[in-house]
Amino acid sequence: MQPRHSSGRIALLLHRAVQITMLKTQVNGDRLWQSLMDLARIGATDKGGVRRLALSDLDGEGRALVCRWFREAGLKVTVDRIGNIFAKRDGADPSLPPVVSGSHIDTQPSGGKFDGNYGVMAALEVARTLNETKLRTRAPYEVAIWTNEEGTRFTPVMMGSGVFAGAFELEYALAQQDLDGCSVQDALQRIGYAGDAQVGGRSFGAYYEAHIEQGPVLEDMGHTVGVVTGALGLRWYDLVLTGQDSHAGPTPMRLRKDALLGAARIIEGVNRIALDGQPDARATVGFMQVSSNSLNVVPGTVRMSVDMRHPRDEGLDAMEAALRALADNVATAIGLGAQVTCVTRYAPVRFDAGCVTAVREAARKFGYRHSDIVSGAGHDACYVARVAPTGMIFVPCEGGISHNEIENAKPEDLEAGCNVLLHAVLASAGMAA
Ligand code: GLV
Ligand code: MN
Ligand code: MN
Repeated sequence: MQPRHSSGRIALLLHRAVQITMLKTQVNGDRLWQSLMDLARIGATDKGGVRRLALSDLDGEGRALVCRWFREAGLKVTVDRIGNIFAKRDGADPSLPPVVSGSHIDTQPSGGKFDGNYGVMAALEVARTLNETKLRTRAPYEVAIWTNEEGTRFTPVMMGSGVFAGAFELEYALAQQDLDGCSVQDALQRIGYAGDAQVGGRSFGAYYEAHIEQGPVLEDMGHTVGVVTGALGLRWYDLVLTGQDSHAGPTPMRLRKDALLGAARIIEGVNRIALDGQPDARATVGFMQVSSNSLNVVPGTVRMSVDMRHPRDEGLDAMEAALRALADNVATAIGLGAQVTCVTRYAPVRFDAGCVTAVREAARKFGYRHSDIVSGAGHDACYVARVAPTGMIFVPCEGGISHNEIENAKPEDLEAGCNVLLHAVLASAGMAA
């Protein structure tokens, strides 16, 4: 009797000791910052930003460095067929699905040091902290790097997480080409990240992604942590205007079929569509190819992108209808052909109530000023949310500026977001006594 009683007491004391250690556990903010700065050297630009396009040689170098850090932290690395990387730390119960955290390390052409990179470095810092404090989670823990989140070299955006979540087919994604005709498949092989693991088809206990806000809300409120409840829906369009190339001198104004003039009117109209839908709607023309693109040729063809976002599907439907009417009207007035194709879409996202609560509770526990927030940007979490309970943590960035080389964030805010991530992960993964 006595031994059983005392072993029960010992188990209880051990459990309490683990709980106390867990309550006190904090990440190492200096190490997190240093890792971000080290990674930012790969593809560093003169203005302090990063240019590391998806599946470029520089992306390959970035992946190699981070995978080295994963292995040094004792994590087991696997790569799937779309190049997503997973780095696993065992839990006490291998039968449980892993709790996963991550983001992306590809950047915009003139991107910053923090977009995506923070989410991966924060997830790695969680693993390093668990190692250092010898905390053993019940469920395994994995760090994820998703392929081509930015969608700037290859569309669609959030490619690796999209295939993982079944939003589009693997073969479709592998066949996508950049402007030079290089396919995703070839680019993956070239940098050595065409893995052999199946994409998706397994469950996560939970997925958390830490990210800079990329907007001004938290900074304006003086809050350190955003508890992300969901994200705007998005639609991307490819718009082609077809007129006629002709000589800039002899062609009278009345006979021109100037596709670039049409594009100018469409840019103005797209902006108007968003302004008419305030405060919710966002619309942007960010890409354009002009043909012949010669100073003394009336432009005969323009290909342009339109990016539209809204928190509700009906809002996106109304914006799409307005865009199609705009393109028709502009084309008729100038004598152009207009083709509008929707190339990417995802519905507004609502994150899992349990994960959102875990993030909020962790922020509360640390006493960080926090508020609920809806993401204006797309994130890998938006696709993962289709197949796993998902939550996100935002931290402020300077002036709300992102997708820009001057993107900046405070080390103490990044550390706070990472502490919240650690405790949300612990809440979902559970502790082994
Ligand atoms: C991802 O970067 C997006 O376009 O929201
Ligand atoms: Mn991002
Ligand atoms: Mn981005």
